[in-house]
Amino acid sequence: MGEITNVMEYQAIANQNLPKMIYDYYSSGAEDDWTLKENREAFSAILFRPRILIDVSKIDMSATVLGFKISMPIMIAPSAMQKMAHPDGEYATARAASAAGTIMTLSSWATSSVEEVASTGPGNPFLHLYLCKDRNVVEHLVKKTKRAGFKAIALTVDAPRLGRRETDIKNRFVLPPYLTLKKFEGLDLPEMDKSNDSGLASYVAGQIDRALTWKDVKWLQSITSLPILVKGVITAEDAKLAVHSGAAGIIVSNHGARQLDYVPATISALEEVVTAAAGRIPVYLDGGVRRGTDVFKALALGAAGVFIGKPVVFALAAEGKAGVRNLLRMMREEFELTMAFSGCTSLADITRAHIYTDAERLARPFPRL
Ligand SMILES: Cc1cc2nc3c(=O)[nH]c(=O)nc-3n(C[C@H](O)[C@H](O)[C@H](O)COP(=O)(O)O)c2cc1C
Repeated sequence: MGEITNVMEYQAIANQNLPKMIYDYYSSGAEDDWTLKENREAFSAILFRPRILIDVSKIDMSATVLGFKISMPIMIAPSAMQKMAHPDGEYATARAASAAGTIMTLSSWATSSVEEVASTGPGNPFLHLYLCKDRNVVEHLVKKTKRAGFKAIALTVDAPRLGRRETDIKNRFVLPPYLTLKKFEGLDLPEMDKSNDSGLASYVAGQIDRALTWKDVKWLQSITSLPILVKGVITAEDAKLAVHSGAAGIIVSNHGARQLDYVPATISALEEVVTAAAGRIPVYLDGGVRRGTDVFKALALGAAGVFIGKPVVFALAAEGKAGVRNLLRMMREEFELTMAFSGCTSLADITRAHIYTDAERLARPFPRL
């Protein structure tokens, strides 16, 4: 393969490099994969209204996320078990994020330890949390990560159970025996069981608290001063509840289309959530972000930043840390170009008027001036 010129090209390389069970785990959506396709296609239904003859010789892409200054509004979503992609796993991802001046979110099911990730330089890593039934385990983890220098928590709220990922069921997916879930090392938790349909699904069923409610968001606030992002909100109703719960922010996410199939693309749900949050807390987005143009569209619809999931594990499988670094570089360059073409020199310049949706185009072809 020649030079890699966009982040999507890493997927084909990952497919070649990885055993089928692992590639399938990384790439699959739930059931019919409708939402998986829609997460991408919905971006194509949004077009630009670029502004011209604006001095774009200097472009500032820097963003502030929960008080932390980052080089661009593009961050890394939590993706589990990255050492299946590359021996350096999350450690490589964290180093690439740190070198790019952005934030990495470390999955609860990471195969690198919090200490390894925290040792990667001047980054501001975020901790991702599934709330386990055993709250002592959660408390232990949160305190340990805070001590290690993690700056915020992304609490996943769309996974009371694991989505039906049929390839994982067929492959009887389990974590390869040479790897461990590092955050839980030393704690007395059961192993994944290969004899089940999907070892992961039954592991989740055993560990994750299905009874999770908004009161647990409060509980989490009571045990830590770290800001909490609620990850997995896609409706206005839940956005309002997130604001009332005291969350520091919302991540509009459908878990990369791996949970409930036939939920809308996150980019389609974003504006409803942003409107409901009413500027009281920042709203971020993940799901299908593959181009700098996607980042711009999300910001135009009110997102304060985006997170990237699958391309990171694919780039890791292709080229380790260098792959993730290159991915972040390509996304940055594409985003900068989109800003230049749109006549925007800072994130504050990006407005709703820079884009329109298919529906708007049909309803009202020209703006009233
Ligand atoms: C392999 C893989 C593992 C994931 N693991 C987690 C996880 O442990 N916790 C979580 O909240 N989300 C997890 N996600 C979802 C991502 O955090 C993110 O929401 C999603 O991947 C974003 O969509 P994208 O993959 O289209 O960029 C995972 C996604 C993938 C692809």
